[in-house]
Amino acid sequence: MWRYCFCLPLLLFDIGVAKASDSSASIFLPSQTGVDGSRSPVCSSPDPNLNYRPVIGILSHPGDGASGRLTNDTSSTYIAASYVKFAEAGGARVIPLIYNEPERLLFQKLELVNGVIFTGGWAKKYQYFDIVKKIFNVLFGFVLPGTFSVYNTIPIFFMLLHRKLWREMMLESIFQYMAFASDSSLCQLSLVRDILERFDAEDNASSLQFVENVNIQGTLFQRFPPELLKKLSTDCLVMQKHKYGITPANFRGNPALSSFFEIITTCVDENSKTYVSTVKAKRYPITGFQWHPEKNAFEWGSSQIPHSEDAIQVTQHAASYLVSEARKSKNRPESKKVLSNLIYNYKPTYCGYAGRGYDEVYLFTQPRARF
Ligand SMILES: *[C@@H]1O[C@H](CO)[C@@H](O)[C@H](O)[C@H]1NC(C)=O
Repeated sequence: MWRYCFCLPLLLFDIGVAKASDSSASIFLPSQTGVDGSRSPVCSSPDPNLNYRPVIGILSHPGDGASGRLTNDTSSTYIAASYVKFAEAGGARVIPLIYNEPERLLFQKLELVNGVIFTGGWAKKYQYFDIVKKIFNVLFGFVLPGTFSVYNTIPIFFMLLHRKLWREMMLESIFQYMAFASDSSLCQLSLVRDILERFDAEDNASSLQFVENVNIQGTLFQRFPPELLKKLSTDCLVMQKHKYGITPANFRGNPALSSFFEIITTCVDENSKTYVSTVKAKRYPITGFQWHPEKNAFEWGSSQIPHSEDAIQVTQHAASYLVSEARKSKNRPESKKVLSNLIYNYKPTYCGYAGRGYDEVYLFTQPRARF
């Protein structure tokens, strides 16, 4: 055992030495390398405009994430650990935003983050959506275009971020958003019946079809290698887990959605019906998914989740994109406050024995806020 412990640093050291001697084999003048001689020729200086210690807030979801196998406590909320690992894989740390803790606390935590993930799930509680709405108001209160990254596994909720909508926020649009964001659970709301449709995509991998003439610069896919982009549209590299969606025609026919978002990809369900699967806000770093970029690398509960090397790369590139957007955030909170709120203060619970659902969840069983 000890041998391995000592070996690893030595190996790294060896590689360092080998590299150093390689570079000393050919010596260039600074003018020949194009590198500013006043700085180290090896390490580029950090870009002062970027935040290299980004923190992603993830909003918890009602329940235990395991259909009562872990707890039936009605105040319990959870975050599937795969979303946390996803943010970590991109090079960020995570602060859980526990949706039912006192709002004062929740919004203090929101001031510590550089990006937000709204996870998938099957929330039914009004309180959850009320908090989502409030978080949106806060984000849009201090967010400048291009400085904040807001993600979701499901698209439509971003319609709230339409500037006009935001100003004249109507209950109706909030309900439309909520319904789509929670997939099946809220579709009964009559307000959304007309834009949502049933799709057969509950537990299967699919390809992603890029919309004709779409410009992927500035989107999630901008840094995907060309080979992988090609495979995305021919191979089943993304995981689907939802019952409801929106057709491209209905999406484009909805002025609130189509003026705010551009459709980047569509998917075809098990009955060859097409639904919108990735959207990007036209003027903001907001991406919506109707597929699960986090599952390929971090969830094992369904045999349908693709785990090929290509599929894992999809997770990794998506994570890099999220965090690269978060690095542009100007928010530089006090480091002590960040530390005491990080997800590292909590332990995930393994619930993969059931052979379905999430493998690990972070459970938060705090008492509800008292007002
Ligand atoms: C939650 O309730 C269900 C249904 O009554 C029960 O089967 C399950 O064991 C309970 N979970 C826990 C953790 O007690």
